[in-house]
Amino acid sequence: MARKAPSVNIILAVFCLALVSCEAKGGLIIARPLPRGAVGVAAETIFNVLQFGAKPGNGQSTQAFIRAWNAACNFNGKARLLVPPGVFTLAETVFQGPCKGPITVQVTGTLKAVADVSEYTGKGWISFDSINGLLLTGGGTFDAQGPSVWKYNDCKGNSNCVRLPATLYINDVQNGKLKGIKLLNSMGFHMHVTNCNFFRAQGLHITAPQDSPNTDGIHISKSQGVSIVRSVIGTGDDCISVGQGSTNVNISKITCGPGHGISVGSLGKLPKELDVAGVVVKNCTMLGTTNGVRIKTWAGSDPSRASRILFDNIVVDNVQNPIIIDQGYGSRSSKPSLVKISDVTYQNIRGTTTSPVAVNLMCSRQAPCQNVRLNNINLTHRLINVKVSATCANAQVISSGIQFPPPCR
Ligand SMILES: *[C@@H]1O[C@H](CO)[C@@H](O)[C@H](O)[C@H]1NC(C)=O
Ligand SMILES: *[C@@H]1O[C@H](CO)[C@@H](O)[C@H](O)[C@H]1NC(C)=O
Ligand SMILES: *[C@@H]1O[C@H](CO)[C@@H](O)[C@H](O)[C@H]1NC(C)=O
Repeated sequence: MARKAPSVNIILAVFCLALVSCEAKGGLIIARPLPRGAVGVAAETIFNVLQFGAKPGNGQSTQAFIRAWNAACNFNGKARLLVPPGVFTLAETVFQGPCKGPITVQVTGTLKAVADVSEYTGKGWISFDSINGLLLTGGGTFDAQGPSVWKYNDCKGNSNCVRLPATLYINDVQNGKLKGIKLLNSMGFHMHVTNCNFFRAQGLHITAPQDSPNTDGIHISKSQGVSIVRSVIGTGDDCISVGQGSTNVNISKITCGPGHGISVGSLGKLPKELDVAGVVVKNCTMLGTTNGVRIKTWAGSDPSRASRILFDNIVVDNVQNPIIIDQGYGSRSSKPSLVKISDVTYQNIRGTTTSPVAVNLMCSRQAPCQNVRLNNINLTHRLINVKVSATCANAQVISSGIQFPPPCR
């Protein structure tokens, strides 16, 4: 049998793996020389932080990471910033766009924060800013060293407290995706997604102790088209919180606990907040959390709206407040909240509660909740023989299907 000679393309593809940057164009692979420090993989160019001077250990690699990022970001084509195995120490780091092309950040090693709050001036330990087309992946860990800085959090007695930086501050990222990374012991939030369009996250592991202050898993604000799926989150605050200006948000297959549950809010803390509309929370499990699914708005707030919210197929296991609307959140005002809540559906919510009030809808007397639907609710107390009940204030409730506890009206 005659052997076919390998095609020019196959030879080029092998060559591309090591030496040059290549691009597939109309069936042909185009090769061109690589910038310093870069390694090509078919149709993608790799920028390894080691080649830009990063060194594993306690010495800071911040500047090396920035150099590697700048090279990747300014590269005219598909670029991959690679963090190999090892522990790298970073102070405040901003991965600033816009970039010339879509960019992948592959973290296989561990990033460790400098544990000195005076080193941080912005909202994040690691920020991604003004990027179109970002994939953050690789299975690596972002360890923010929270335990050494939580003592500087005074938000308990001070509602105007300065927040400690988020592990990941993702601002103005369009078409962003996070896949398979671990966030450990954030200083402030683990992740804050803001001013983003089409942002997706999946396969995240977010972990901090139950008593760590304001360590929300993922906080979303001012963003459109966000999906957070298949993730395990346990922290000292909300597993996921959906703040002002969020629209078209899908949250599904989240295991949450310990923590404060999954929340829409808090809303109305600041003047003139933007509306929240279109939030779906589906197929989630809450384990030993203080709340299951919660909507919270500040007392004495400015007017805004929260509407079209669906909580569907939620299992709660030893949860204190499985279903709760709290419009008297925060203690700074005795005036009612003016956030108008409407078109909220709770469907197929089941499991056990640790408090006798399983459904607690405390709406604003000034802006009553409208069209709140309860369908197939089965919540029982953790202890046999303890009866559970529903309480409501200023809420227009429509119920159908199974109702344990019996609905309030
Ligand atoms: C959310 O889910 C709905 C219904 O499946 C879908 O139409 C919408 O595009 C999803 N949005 C995002 C951001 O994934
Ligand atoms: C939720 O679970 C149901 C039943 O297992 C499944 O059919 C549906 O696709 C799931 N939806 C999401 C968004 O996870
Ligand atoms: C409600 O949940 C309890 C405890 O899990 C279960 O025994 C019961 O069958 C459920 N009721 C309905 C109507 O599904």
